[in-house]
Amino acid sequence: MGKSEKQPAGPFPTTRLRRLRYHPAVRRLVQETRLDPAQMILPLFVRSGRNVRLPINSMPGHFQLSPDQLTAEIQEVQELGLGGILLFGIPDTKDATGSDSYSDQGIVQQAIAEAKKASPELLVITDVCFCEYTDHGHCGVINDRTGRVDVDNDATLELIANQALSHARAGADMVAPSGMMDGMVGAIRTRLDAAGYAHLPIMSYAAKYASAFYGPFREAAESTPQFGDRRSYQMDPAADPQQALREVELDLAEGADIIMVKPALAYLDIIRTVRDHFPGVPVAAYNVSGEFSMVKAAAQRGWIDERAVALESLLALRRAGASILLTYWAKQAAGWLA
Ligand code: PBG
Repeated sequence: MGKSEKQPAGPFPTTRLRRLRYHPAVRRLVQETRLDPAQMILPLFVRSGRNVRLPINSMPGHFQLSPDQLTAEIQEVQELGLGGILLFGIPDTKDATGSDSYSDQGIVQQAIAEAKKASPELLVITDVCFCEYTDHGHCGVINDRTGRVDVDNDATLELIANQALSHARAGADMVAPSGMMDGMVGAIRTRLDAAGYAHLPIMSYAAKYASAFYGPFREAAESTPQFGDRRSYQMDPAADPQQALREVELDLAEGADIIMVKPALAYLDIIRTVRDHFPGVPVAAYNVSGEFSMVKAAAQRGWIDERAVALESLLALRRAGASILLTYWAKQAAGWLA
């Protein structure tokens, strides 16, 4: 007895962490991380036509939609209280410079107009890139100036700025450049400001990795590169994580308002690092197509509980420091959380 009295109060049995877990209401009370549909963005794929609703095989529940189909989609998105939509366009014709992407009559421009007509309040974000619009499938114009066939960074910037401005004119509320060109944020910022769109925020795909997790997206957006890959512009997954900070730092200096990390689940360390280094900067995580399709496929086989896994994954992104989640589960998640 005497001996045990002298011992400092041990962690156990005085401390029992299970006390905070024994009752569902106690667990709920001490939850630190919550999911909110208002922070979720739904990516949508738009192609020309009327009454088109083409299922994307590798992404069950997702479709290539014609612009007229957006009205119903947007009503649903609003009823569910989602944060907004991210538009991708699939043009009828592709060419060397992806000219549909910066045409005021382009597919995405039509989609923006349709979306804003359906609901002026809903946040419409556009992906600003070229891979869906070029015949070669790369994220900019190609040349061989450097002795190897590659995307020409500086020649692409001019077209990126044109594309972003055209989206703004069509009514986009925010632009999201995803091409990983150096200087892309600055080029867009300068062009938008000069044209009277100084108020329009830029969400930059700042730390975007050359990832195999984009596989299903390339079917969805018909944007597979016809030769080579994207490793000369997207980040190397094996690069020093500090490189992600440099990307973010530069984008912020060029005027980015929101910073994105992509993909999400295999890059939780990057999300956390960015969050810690740039307090006050909203961080978005793109839970990409492959991350979605893997769970869908396993769930179809009865190997995994889709709802539980999806919500746990999204929660992990919030816990890692992302406040905005771009996810193909946005509608389902909102339903599950209701
Ligand atoms: C490029 C872009 C891609 C994705 C979003 N924007 C594809 C790529 O870089 O090859 C991928 C999104 C996903 O996989 O869900 N426009």
